[in-house]
Amino acid sequence: MNIRKLLSDRILQSMITAGAPIGAPALVSPSTKPQFGDYQADGCMAAAKKMKTNPRTFAEKVLETLDLSDVAEKLELAGPGFINIFLKTDYLTDQLTQISADDEKHLGVETVEKSQKVVVDYSGPNLAKEMHVGHLRSTIIGDAMARIFAFKGWEVTRQNHVGDWGTQFGMLLSYMEEIDEVSESLADLEEFYRKSKTRFDDDPAFAEKSRATVVKLQGGDENCLAHWKAFLNESLGHCSKVYQQLGVLLTQDDVRGESAYNDDLPNVIADLKSAGLLEESDGASGVFLDEFRNKDDERAFIIVQKSDGGYLYATTDLAAIRHRAGQLAADRILYVTDSRQAQHFAQVFLIAKRAGFAPEQVILEHVPFGMMLGTDGRPFKTRTGGTVKLMDLLKEAQQRAEKLVAEKNPDLDAAARTEIASVVGIGALKYADLAQNRTSDYVFAWDKMLSLEGNTAPYMQYAYARIRSIFRKAADTGANCTGQLKLAEPAERALGVKLLQFSEMVDFVTDSCLPSMLCTYLHELAGAFMSFYESCPVLKADDDETRSSRLALCDLTARVIKQGLELLGIETVEKM
Ligand code: ARG
Repeated sequence: MNIRKLLSDRILQSMITAGAPIGAPALVSPSTKPQFGDYQADGCMAAAKKMKTNPRTFAEKVLETLDLSDVAEKLELAGPGFINIFLKTDYLTDQLTQISADDEKHLGVETVEKSQKVVVDYSGPNLAKEMHVGHLRSTIIGDAMARIFAFKGWEVTRQNHVGDWGTQFGMLLSYMEEIDEVSESLADLEEFYRKSKTRFDDDPAFAEKSRATVVKLQGGDENCLAHWKAFLNESLGHCSKVYQQLGVLLTQDDVRGESAYNDDLPNVIADLKSAGLLEESDGASGVFLDEFRNKDDERAFIIVQKSDGGYLYATTDLAAIRHRAGQLAADRILYVTDSRQAQHFAQVFLIAKRAGFAPEQVILEHVPFGMMLGTDGRPFKTRTGGTVKLMDLLKEAQQRAEKLVAEKNPDLDAAARTEIASVVGIGALKYADLAQNRTSDYVFAWDKMLSLEGNTAPYMQYAYARIRSIFRKAADTGANCTGQLKLAEPAERALGVKLLQFSEMVDFVTDSCLPSMLCTYLHELAGAFMSFYESCPVLKADDDETRSSRLALCDLTARVIKQGLELLGIETVEKM
């Protein structure tokens, strides 16, 4: 049950009855202070302003028809026109009991009614080199979004739009042809790339051959294609290993790279032409967009075919949109890339809609993110200034976590330690990224992300493991949580309200694609749990009934934390 939505809908209804203009929101959110109740609605002020009427008088009028008696025990009008809502404790108890009894309840999260399809385009590395930090954010954020949509009941198609078709492949293929031990050399993609690049820079004849090779490849030459496939195989195999270690759901089936759209590119051009959108400028073909202007205030010209006949990144993306809106029948298409591509997508989306490549109702959405910075505030690099390979980064996360685990828990055997370190290290890396406001740059700092304090994965994982340890002790004493759940103490009630907010948080993240809000929520939940745990003895409760009820709260908290982390692609361990 999304309580926030229930309150919003009812308040909005009363606002409209009181004469509010259509579209004025109810602005319901959890209250900022306990004395303001459980939720507050702030929408009356803005609505009254639009109506040019007194906000308090308007809020009074809203309250006249607002019936929340089934869920709230008290409504209060505060300040210039806030409505404070105090929920009934019985209602909260009922909701919690339902959620905790029924696994199908999805911890209160309701699944979408009609089938809805979302395409999540994420990761998309360029395959010439090994995966590096530049691919991390898209991979982590995109994967979390794909998981969250699936949990909400959307049909999710992951698309890994890898760069597998550019000019650099001519260079790589020519080099492959030149050397014998191809498969062995390819084992280190990075070195392979470096060596071929050296050949390319040093030998004009080789460079010439490389350029000819791309043309041959794109023209469908069998020999080139065979080498290209061998190369891709190796490169995608490397990506798979990274995805697996990172706990990311992408598989080879999700790969649909730039090359997949090659045959469709002439059709894109032809269709733009028949839609009357295609124009020429300096020999190149493209689309003029009034909405985008250059510094001389001239309309932007988006090139889709160069004068030499070559196609561009935008052309491929137009073909991809058509595939996704058409064959994949997507209702919503998300593109998780860094914010520097914002203009590219804005322009491509506009052209796609105008050309009818995606029907009007299909939502095309760029999900941008900021940069990863080093502790010096500059783009994140190795100590010697090189690009950080993802494999190395993952290894380091694991090693650092292993040290942390060994310090915390010296009695663990080596196998258990390694297992926990992997979950904690990778979790910390992912959580540190997801917990950031997506659109800002963030500083990548090992110590902070591996800290057991604050809004970090280790903190959340530790909170989970701690609750599980309560249950191990409970099992020894025969205590259980099968009795009636009740919210008697303020800390119990506060925890109960937080637990019920999981559902509205998942809804919010599905709408906004801001997984950081889920992190904030989980952190607050863990905080509410700690307060509860400090003030309400669980195993040492006064009577069986109270113990059982508190254990039920513990159990639900553990389940929400585990599920919440799982939606972010982060694992938990039973002991830490
Ligand atoms: N390969 C691209 C890059 O590395 C990312 C692909 C994003 N997806 C897309 N449909 N353009 O920047």
